[in-house]
Amino acid sequence: MKGLEVDNIYFAYGGARALAGASLRAEPGAIVTLLGSNGAGKTTTAKVIAGALMPASGSVSFDGVLLSGLPTHKVMRHGVVLVPEGRRVFSRMTIQENLLMGAYKENRQQRVAELLEKCFTTFPRLKERRSQLAGSLSGGEQQMLAIARGLMAEPRLLMLDEPSLGIMPKLVRGIFELIVEIAASGVSILLIEQNARASLDIASYAYVLDKGKIILEGAGRDLLADAFVQNAYLGT
Ligand SMILES: Nc1ncnc2c1ncn2[C@@H]1O[C@H](COP(=O)(O)OP(=O)(O)OP(=O)(O)O)[C@@H](O)[C@H]1O
Ligand SMILES: [Mg+2]
Repeated sequence: MKGLEVDNIYFAYGGARALAGASLRAEPGAIVTLLGSNGAGKTTTAKVIAGALMPASGSVSFDGVLLSGLPTHKVMRHGVVLVPEGRRVFSRMTIQENLLMGAYKENRQQRVAELLEKCFTTFPRLKERRSQLAGSLSGGEQQMLAIARGLMAEPRLLMLDEPSLGIMPKLVRGIFELIVEIAASGVSILLIEQNARASLDIASYAYVLDKGKIILEGAGRDLLADAFVQNAYLGT
């Protein structure tokens, strides 16, 4: 199958089980939202997919290629990129240096220059401030930089862990619009969000994770209308 296929993964931190048989899929160009309360296992799922954590059992494949068992740098070579929780940009490096770090797998200078130019077209604010330290950006701008850096790696699967967390509400809309645009270019998106309403709104499909298991799944709009989801995650 094309895209991401996560099948029955288990993971424990020492003795503490975090994933207990989670399965999910994301086709090319799909926005797939992963909801769940604190500690449900969302970040752990993303880290297992990214190869940062090795599942105890179960498998992760992308475009039919088995990724589980490979280290992160090899997983990244298959186009799987994670923009982690807390938008870890390198605050003492410039914006441009941060972006260039994202193009790690490309060693042709001409291609790197093209990627940078494309990135600056999408993010004119980053272009204006390319020589400034990333630490001088606002939280929302740092999140944009973290996503832009992820795009420099030319992902085929982009995982975003809580991209709107701690961001001023008026900037959140821009982040969601950007995610829609990225997906429209054929990239699969795995979106982990606290902002359930906005993330279900743009999701083609969504999963609810609880104690390391998927307890509910369906089209974004169906979950928006689901009484359990409304009660547990939408505060209605
Ligand atoms: N490094 C770690 N060592 C031990 N336990 C951990 C570690 N990281 C996470 N856990 C535990 O694993 C479980 C899943 O955590 P995870 O971070 O995946 O949840 P999450 O759904 O991303 O939560 P949040 O919404 O708070 O980000 C939780 O019980 C958490 O306490
Ligand atoms: Mg998390």
